[in-house]
Amino acid sequence: MESQNGDNVASNLLKAQSHLWNHIFNFINSMSLKCVVDLGIPDIIHNHGKPMPLSKLISSLPIHPSKKPCIYRLMRIMTYSGFFSQQNITENELEIEYMLTDVSLLLLKNSPMSVAPHVHGILSPDMIDPWHQFSAWLKNDDITAFETTHGMSFWDYLARDSKFNNSFNESMAKDTRLVSDLLVEKCKGVFHEVESLVDVGGGTGTMAKTLAKSFPQMECIVFDLPHVVDGLQGSENLNYVGGDMFKEIPPTDAILLKSILHDWNDEECVKILKNCKDAISKKGKGKVVIIDTVLDKENGNINESVETQLFFDMLMMVVFAGKERNEKEWIKLISLAGFSDYKITPILGSRSMIEIYP
Ligand SMILES: C[S@@+](CC[C@H](N)C(=O)[O-])C[C@H]1O[C@@H](n2cnc3c(N)ncnc32)[C@H](O)[C@@H]1O
Repeated sequence: MESQNGDNVASNLLKAQSHLWNHIFNFINSMSLKCVVDLGIPDIIHNHGKPMPLSKLISSLPIHPSKKPCIYRLMRIMTYSGFFSQQNITENELEIEYMLTDVSLLLLKNSPMSVAPHVHGILSPDMIDPWHQFSAWLKNDDITAFETTHGMSFWDYLARDSKFNNSFNESMAKDTRLVSDLLVEKCKGVFHEVESLVDVGGGTGTMAKTLAKSFPQMECIVFDLPHVVDGLQGSENLNYVGGDMFKEIPPTDAILLKSILHDWNDEECVKILKNCKDAISKKGKGKVVIIDTVLDKENGNINESVETQLFFDMLMMVVFAGKERNEKEWIKLISLAGFSDYKITPILGSRSMIEIYP
């Protein structure tokens, strides 16, 4: 009995140790992913047109001959993590053939929904360095750890660095492409009779372009900071307007806020929402459509989507001074801004559509 207990303790300790090692080494997953994207491995396998033997993959890569054996080990961990599948598994590693999975399809550089720009953006030293300042930031009065590291807010940093700005806008545009197609497909009714819409913080206009095309009766405006929209060309029912959502938003029937409110604290969100309310009330009774996370950890749901939500919440804290919110927290914001009704539709993976009405 005693030895069984002893065995249990030891086995629990070993399990705990593995759990810890895996947590410490999580960055190896991220950095291996970055390496695979840097080397263009998903595109090389895709362009091969059929399962690609390791020998061929290695000879297609711009690597030093002494590093050839490393690629098998890189592919082994990435296959284990679900990025590739394999066939023709033989003793000879060089004959193993690799194929893309749904996950690595999302890494193809020319895919309109590619997550590759996010891999580069989130894992760039500019974005990783603030995490090294996390505990130091908790002890100082800076608004974000990003500011502790770079001496300015994320938005000021973007405005000063056009390369960083372009890569951020590109990564948001690719993310929005996936969401906009789903939104049009699943929520047609939401925009059916809307005559005008302002996409507040609409970036370079990916969402508004899809909406303008799908709903030709709707006049769309992409409203964002001047350095984001300057020089962008509109079309028949789509225009770009530069401005500041904390000051004034152009009058409209409907407003879209995708991935905006989670960037800001409660006070700032209430200010943005009040400006939205002013903008829609000038044209009669309208609505605001928010696409953002509604945290559902409280419901005891433990799945990949919840982990995504919790990761985003931490990102919002360290980089933007924002947060992900649960339904209660959303209701508080909505009512503080003077809206009287809301409807949440959880149709977008880890994110939801929240319609709010004056
Ligand atoms: C996370 S991005 C979301 C972009 C877009 N809605 C999307 O989901 O692809 C936030 C956007 O808010 C814009 N933004 C930040 N501060 C703003 C302000 N004061 N007024 C208007 N837009 C602002 C940024 O330039 C950026 O395009």
